[in-house]
Amino acid sequence: MSKPTILVVDDEALIRWSLTERLKSDGYEVLEAETGQAALEALAEGVDLVLLDYRLPDTDGVAVLRKIKEFDQDILVILLTAFATVDTAVEAMKLGAYHFANKPFNLDEIAATVERALETTKLRREVRQFRTNAARPYSLERIVGASPQMTALRQLVGRVAVTPASTVLLTGESGTGKDLVAKVLHYASDRASRPFMNITCSALPEQLLESELFGHERGAFTDARLQKKGLLEIADGGTVFLDEIGEMTPGLQAKLLRFLEEKSFKRVGGFADIRVDVRVVAATNRDLEQEVARHQFRTDLFFRLNVLPITMPALRSHPEDIPLLVEYFIDAFNTEFRKRILGATPAAYAVLQSYGWPGNVRELRNVIERAMLLSDADRLDARDFPAMTKAVSAGNEFELPATGVDLEQLERSLLVQALRRSGNNQTKAGQLLGLNRDQIRYRIEKFGLALTSS
Ligand SMILES: Nc1ncnc2c1ncn2[C@@H]1O[C@H](COP(=O)(O)OP(=O)(O)OP(=O)(O)O)[C@@H](O)[C@H]1O
Ligand SMILES: [Mg+2]
Repeated sequence: MSKPTILVVDDEALIRWSLTERLKSDGYEVLEAETGQAALEALAEGVDLVLLDYRLPDTDGVAVLRKIKEFDQDILVILLTAFATVDTAVEAMKLGAYHFANKPFNLDEIAATVERALETTKLRREVRQFRTNAARPYSLERIVGASPQMTALRQLVGRVAVTPASTVLLTGESGTGKDLVAKVLHYASDRASRPFMNITCSALPEQLLESELFGHERGAFTDARLQKKGLLEIADGGTVFLDEIGEMTPGLQAKLLRFLEEKSFKRVGGFADIRVDVRVVAATNRDLEQEVARHQFRTDLFFRLNVLPITMPALRSHPEDIPLLVEYFIDAFNTEFRKRILGATPAAYAVLQSYGWPGNVRELRNVIERAMLLSDADRLDARDFPAMTKAVSAGNEFELPATGVDLEQLERSLLVQALRRSGNNQTKAGQLLGLNRDQIRYRIEKFGLALTSS
C-alpha cells in the first residue's frame, strides 16, 4: 500500500512548512502549493487529501474546492481559515468539504482530522472496488441484447433470480450464454453473498462426480483417506451449477433427483442425512425431451428440472443484436489489449449479420478477438472477417440457372451431400449448412431420408 498523498495549499511559507513537517513525520507524502492555480495543477500527481487555505493570492478557497471536487469527487478537502463566516462555511460544506478548521490551528487536531478523513476514503474506495468487482460483472446488464428475444430473456432471468425456486434448467445451443446466465441467476439473487459452485458433469467419471457433489466419508473408497465435503454442502445457501447435465449417468441422475426432492443427501459411505439449501441450475445443449424419448435421461428428473426452463435463443435467430454484441466485445478487448478500436464499419456489420453463427455468441466473441489482435485500423472492416466473408460469398456463388431450380430438390440434395460428407454426423452436417442438429433432424424427416443418426 502506498502512502496517502496530502496537498498543503497556503500562501504563507511558515504555515506550509509547519504542516508539511508534521504530516511527513506522520508518514504521509506531502505536496505544497502557494496559489489556487498551483494547487489545481498539483492534483494531477494523485492527491488523496487537500489542506486548503481560504484566502489565496489568486482566488478563494471555495472556488478551488469546487474545482477539486469537479476533478475528483473522492479527494477530501479540509478548509483552513482565519475568518469563517457562516455563509462561507455553509457553502463549503455543500460543495463537499470534509471539515472546516479555524486559524490559528492546533497541529495535533489537524493531524487527527486528517487521519480520520483518510480512513473514510479508504473505506469508500474499498466499497466501490468491491461493488465493481463482485456485483457488476454478473448483473443482468451483462446479458447483452436489445432484440425482443433477449429483452424477454433478461426479464425472465431477473424474475427467476429472485424467486425461491430451487431448480432452473437452462437449454440452448453451445455458446448461447448458459454459463453467463447461470452466474447472473446467482449474483442477481439473494444468494449472491453465498458460494457459486460449478461442475461439468461430463468431465468426471461417475464415482468421482458423485463424491464431488455429495462428498464422502473417510474410507468410503480406496482413495478416500479423509472425509470430504461435496459441492452441495460447500454451496449451502448459494447455487450449484451442473453443466452438461445431459451427460450424467442414470445412477447419478437418480441420486440427484432424490436430493432435489428431499433437499437432503448422504455423503458417499455416510449414514447421516445432510440438509442444505442450494439452488441447482442445470444446463445442457442437448434436447432433453429427445433424450427422455430415447431413454437416455430419466423422465422424472427431467420434469423436476423443467419446472423453470430458460431457453437461450440461437444467435442466428436475433441477428439484430450483432452490432450491440460487437461493440460490447470491442470495448472489452480494448481494455484487455490496450487498444483503441472505435467500432466496426457498416460493411463489417453486413458480413457479420449474414453469417449463420453455428457457434453462437462464443464464436462471435472469438472472431472479434482475433480481428482486434490483427487489425491496426480505427474500425474493424469486412476484410477483418475473412472466414465469414468466404461463407457469405460462397452462398452468393449459387447462381440461379436460367432454367430455374427445384428448391426442395436442391435442399434435399445438399442435405444428402452434407450427411455423406460428415459420415452421417448430424451436428457436423449442420455445420456445413449453417443449421443446428434439430433443424437437420427435421429435414431428414421431412425428406424421409432413412439414415441412421449419429
Ligand atoms: N448475451 C450475451 N451477452 C454478452 N456476452 C455473452 C452473451 N451470450 C454469451 N456471451 C459470452 O459468450 C461466451 C460464451 O457463452 P457461455 O460460455 O455462457 O455459453 P454456453 O451456452 O455455456 O456454451 P456451452 O454450451 O458450450 O457451454 C462467454 O464469453 C459469454 O460471456
Ligand atoms: Mg457452458
